[in-house]
Amino acid sequence: MKSLGKIRIAVIGGTGFDKLFRKTRELRLGTPYGIAPPLHIGKIGGKRVVFLPRHGSSHSVPPHKINYRANIYALHEIGVERVLATNAVGAINTNFKPGDIVVPHDFVDFTKSRLTTFYNEAPVTHIDVSQPYCPEIRKLLIKTAEEYGFHAWNKAVLVCTEGPRFETPAEIKMFKRLGCDVVGMTGIPEAVLSRELEMCYASVCYVSNMAAGVQRRLTALDVSKVTKVFHSRIEQILITTIRSLPSRRNCPCMNTLRDARFE
Ligand code: HPA
Repeated sequence: MKSLGKIRIAVIGGTGFDKLFRKTRELRLGTPYGIAPPLHIGKIGGKRVVFLPRHGSSHSVPPHKINYRANIYALHEIGVERVLATNAVGAINTNFKPGDIVVPHDFVDFTKSRLTTFYNEAPVTHIDVSQPYCPEIRKLLIKTAEEYGFHAWNKAVLVCTEGPRFETPAEIKMFKRLGCDVVGMTGIPEAVLSRELEMCYASVCYVSNMAAGVQRRLTALDVSKVTKVFHSRIEQILITTIRSLPSRRNCPCMNTLRDARFE
């Protein structure tokens, strides 16, 4: 990767977030896990940033088919240390409303078929996820959202479902009882895989709908319409947060593998 030089900050987003910065280069990277979608490279506030469209450039890959390992590994390969993700979510907690910003502090994994680890061989590795999202990036995302005056929830439990269908009302009731606030299909295993490679990861989510059974009917078209409306807010938060990230990390994420292995 010498000719490219290290790119330490990544944004992972859905389709439409690729206008975050002017793309100066596009990169296609193969990994031991497969080929990642085209990586868009550019600059924000003088910092080199890579954007990864998680559903592919033309939004052709559904959430359960995304090659999460290839995506995260590709970012690690080019030197990324911090990942800022954005996800559309449905609100289970009825205090949350469409348009609200949510920076989750914890998650529940209800995915079913995804490959969620890089560590399938010895040494057996158990990473700590007592604090699953990077505290340093979370704090900055929340501060930025509040400074813009956006309605932002600074604590929330995100449940990740397998998709591609939306949830049933009974599932949402169950998640509510379990203490989940928002539901989405793409946050996991991105957060876990990033942590496994000692990269920081935090997500700025936006509520695109009330969850199934809370609102009468749920369509992908509605989700995409709301996304377009709130898109620029998320971009503002991401850009300002990236500008204000200190150059050196000040969080435990980079020491994840210390003491994580059976000798
Ligand atoms: N459920 C799952 N994923 C979602 C939702 C939802 O209600 N809204 C946006 N992504």
